[in-house]
Amino acid sequence: MARPPGHCLLLICALGIFVGNHFAAGQRNSTLIFTRENTIRNCSCSADIRDCDYSLANLMCSCKTVLPFAVEQTSYSGHLTIWFTDTSVLGRLLNFTLVQDLKLSLCSTNTLPTEYLAICGLKRLRVNTEAKQPFPEQSLLVHSGADSDSKLQPMSLGKGWQTCMYVTFLDMALFNRDSSLRAYSIENVASIANNFPDFSYFKTFPMPSNQSYVVTFIY
Ligand SMILES: *[C@@H]1O[C@H](CO)[C@@H](O)[C@H](O)[C@H]1NC(C)=O
Ligand SMILES: *[C@@H]1O[C@H](CO)[C@@H](O)[C@H](O)[C@H]1NC(C)=O
Ligand SMILES: *[C@@H]1O[C@H](CO)[C@@H](O)[C@H](O)[C@H]1NC(C)=O
Ligand SMILES: *[C@@H]1O[C@H](CO)[C@@H](O)[C@H](O)[C@H]1NC(C)=O
Repeated sequence: MARPPGHCLLLICALGIFVGNHFAAGQRNSTLIFTRENTIRNCSCSADIRDCDYSLANLMCSCKTVLPFAVEQTSYSGHLTIWFTDTSVLGRLLNFTLVQDLKLSLCSTNTLPTEYLAICGLKRLRVNTEAKQPFPEQSLLVHSGADSDSKLQPMSLGKGWQTCMYVTFLDMALFNRDSSLRAYSIENVASIANNFPDFSYFKTFPMPSNQSYVVTFIY
């Protein structure tokens, strides 16, 4: 029954190469969340799934259903992809969360209202609108905020929104436009409500007023 030792060694070696490649390519599973008919599926995928291909995602990824009202504030340190159809569920999933690398794909032909989504610590954003294929996916580097920036390390990610230094406001209406993504950043913002007095909208955003921010608008 016992296999010859040489065989085992070979297997271990092959495994080593496989694991090595796995890490070299940085192919950690990524999180894919999709919403459809009021259900939310939270998946862990080892492969890239074509946008809005729900059945393929269900087949290829390891997914579980999340009840919309059971969504808790959380943070995502790796890639996060969200396929969404309207802003309400997306807001519940993402508003005031900490995400570094985000891809948003609109999987419907809905026209989205001008409504802002607040995200903390966003470094890279990709957006895609399925209905506008073959309009290419767009990508934006929000800030490269060197990883030495301790304010963004997972430790402070865990502390939640109240410690957020890099705040990004994403205008949902950008998904309606054919133009390229635009962004501008303002540094050393002491208080969002006081710095943008004409923008009464921000009075409703729960921001602590005793720290300074780098605020980026993407529209
Ligand atoms: C989705 O699953 C990941 C773990 O795979 C977890 O960290 C995250 O909080 C979940 N998100 C939601 C909205 O359930
Ligand atoms: C990674 O994704 C695959 C499906 O693509 C799944 O079977 C596996 O459980 C996932 N691993 C983790 C650690 O979530
Ligand atoms: C995010 O929360 C703010 C403040 O409550 C709200 O005004 C805004 O509409 C929300 N955005 C989305 C996309 O739900
Ligand atoms: C801001 O104020 C809150 C409570 O009012 C406090 O817990 C927090 O440490 C303060 N942050 C800074 C950066 O001073």
